[in-house]
Amino acid sequence: KSIVVLISGSGTNLQAILDNIEAGRIHGRVTAVISNQADAYGLERARQADVPALVLSHKDYADRESYDQALMAQIDQYQPDLVVLAGFMRILSEHFVQHYLGRMLNIHPSLLPKYKGLHTHRRAIEANDAEHGATVHFVTPELDGGPVIIQSKVPVFATDSEEELSLRVREQELQLYPLVVKWFCQDRLRMNDGQVLLDDKPV
Ligand code: GRF
Repeated sequence: KSIVVLISGSGTNLQAILDNIEAGRIHGRVTAVISNQADAYGLERARQADVPALVLSHKDYADRESYDQALMAQIDQYQPDLVVLAGFMRILSEHFVQHYLGRMLNIHPSLLPKYKGLHTHRRAIEANDAEHGATVHFVTPELDGGPVIIQSKVPVFATDSEEELSLRVREQELQLYPLVVKWFCQDRLRMNDGQVLLDDKPV
């Protein structure tokens, strides 16, 4: 399977996927990594793994539609079976999302549907939540609103800083995302009528 990964930053989730491919646990290949930020450290991770590392800056485009159009063209050169959003900090247009419907995944650092959007760790701490976590979902036009594939919970301690909590969640992310990508590459995972099926059974 051809996998294109979109990033904006450090790329620890990308690294986890690359490592699992290298270890033979995911039967797929990252054919390109694309960042909207030129200084994303994840680009370096891609180069280290001999994966084409491309920058497509949203600043070079007049509006979301034209950026998303260019991004689609770039992605489709690699004929991906799967598009993985791994810390890609852009809202995607409806047209873009529809184009990859059922073959685009996102990871979000909260127990969705709680805390869509930004600053999830801070919000969980401020709400005195007992638990927090991470979610992998199929991407649909509603931001962070697509059907959930898997979640992992972590405790929130009274003494937690945003940083401490985010590290605890990140550890879970690095387990979850490669697992889901593995399932997808094994053709075990599908989205059908807005429902997630794993081995043809609702999750
Ligand atoms: C992760 O916390 C992910 O859930 C969020 O952005 C962060 C990306 O981190 N969407 P990295 O670039 O994979 O290190």
